[in-house]
Amino acid sequence: MANIIDGKVISAQIKDEVKEKVAKLKEEGREVCLAVIQVGDDPASTVYVGNKKKACEYCGIRSESYEIPGDTTEDELIALIEKLNADTAVNGILVQLPLPKHINEDRVIMSIDPAKDVDGFSVNSVGSLCIGRKGYRSCTPAGIIELLKRSNIEIAGKECVVIGRSNIVGKPMALMMLQENATVTITHSKTVDLPSVTRRADILIVAIGKPRMITSEYVKEGAVVIDVGIHRDENNKLCGDVDYADVAEKCSYITPVPGGVGPMTIAMLMHNCVEGA
Ligand code: GUN
Repeated sequence: MANIIDGKVISAQIKDEVKEKVAKLKEEGREVCLAVIQVGDDPASTVYVGNKKKACEYCGIRSESYEIPGDTTEDELIALIEKLNADTAVNGILVQLPLPKHINEDRVIMSIDPAKDVDGFSVNSVGSLCIGRKGYRSCTPAGIIELLKRSNIEIAGKECVVIGRSNIVGKPMALMMLQENATVTITHSKTVDLPSVTRRADILIVAIGKPRMITSEYVKEGAVVIDVGIHRDENNKLCGDVDYADVAEKCSYITPVPGGVGPMTIAMLMHNCVEGA
């Protein structure tokens, strides 16, 4: 049976480290402040934004909340971001995604000052990651690197297969594993014979967006399996992209859902806020 990588414990450690750093900055008379923008009232976004605000409160980071109507225009949203870009009291700006369909996400992300892009989504941040420069790292993949390191799992020289190529998880994840000297393969919906590729992985990172799709057939004996997915199954129970019960029999380490990768995203957002400040 696999060892469980406990994202709740590791994310709590990171938030405590952030809390200490925030307190030190406060002693020097400096405050850390995150502006959080939510456009519309998508229920999932409301939960995520609420959790981000709670984490800020825990860490001693001031959060400024902008909950604006779903019919806000792209130009109005960008005008708000520009105001926050110019506000020296604001260290980080987060625009919760997805945005309503009439707003161009790319243009909005690109309007955030790269120095305040705590989500790490801008071309500047992703480009810095690509060429190995310092910069903000996308929170979910950065959290996965922390899970691996803090579980003493060796990355250098290992075969890593990432399933999924999104701009937020798959692509930055592959770049971060490369930066850590893994041999990296990115797979996606057009990959031919996916199980034959994923079975090469010493570290398999799954961000495919399909409930319990990855069964033991996809996994090499003794592999480390990281599950980014989060879904509700037919019984309203939370599950990931990995068929946990089946895969846990075969792998050496696994992240559960909930309590694996999920809590790390917010912990790394807090980390980014304090590092930026
Ligand atoms: N929507 C889902 N995940 C995220 C995230 O990490 N950041 C933002 N801004 N929006 C999201």
